[in-house]
Amino acid sequence: MITVLNHPLITHKLTQMRSLSTGTKDFRQNLDEIAGLMAYEITRDLKLEPVTVNTHSGPYDTFQLNKEVVLVPILRAGLGMVEGILDLIPTAKVGHVGVYRDEETLLPHEYFAKFPDKLEQAEVLVLDPMLATGGSADAAIEIVKKRGAKTIKLVCLVGAPEGVEFIKERHPDVDIFLAALDEKLNEHGYIVPGLGDAGDRIYGTK
Ligand code: PRP
Ligand code: URA
Repeated sequence: MITVLNHPLITHKLTQMRSLSTGTKDFRQNLDEIAGLMAYEITRDLKLEPVTVNTHSGPYDTFQLNKEVVLVPILRAGLGMVEGILDLIPTAKVGHVGVYRDEETLLPHEYFAKFPDKLEQAEVLVLDPMLATGGSADAAIEIVKKRGAKTIKLVCLVGAPEGVEFIKERHPDVDIFLAALDEKLNEHGYIVPGLGDAGDRIYGTK
């Protein structure tokens, strides 16, 4: 399943991120804010379990989340989405996957992986602003699956049709959430219109 979260606030913030005149500070802030807005929709189907709490007027039968949420940002750019989502789900744990894309071959290379325990019982959200060829997201999803994850969502800001199709084919069990589905990839594997190199824009490395 793919969901594109059309919301005026998301579109407005994404427009600012697309603009070349937006510098590192505002790029990072908009990314953080969009991730927070997306979290509300992404978590809509989280399951609840019954619980009884003691209130000022006595015991009350109500509900609480029945699964732990684990955020898995793909380094580096995915890190820019973590704080915005933690604002909404402060109890979430955070794993990390390091994957970079070779600029010549466009193939993903893994360099780091560290996760909290019991991924098999958690709702795992894999985070990356960019879904281009889909190679990096595919590698990250493979890694969390090998560590036992069963319920996985892929959360990206901007996706290219090529990357969406690749993930749908490779991981039909993973739901994809985007803030925008863009037009295509260019000859260098960059999303058009896209955001440019998200990692470099977040961290000011170019
Ligand atoms: C970017 C982006 C994704 C990947 C998308 O990361 O953040 O991880 O490229 O491309 P793909 O879908 O074709 O794999 P990059 O490799 O530039 O690393 P960085 O985050 O460290 O800059
Ligand atoms: N990685 C990025 O940061 N941007 C793209 O458009 C494609 C890959």
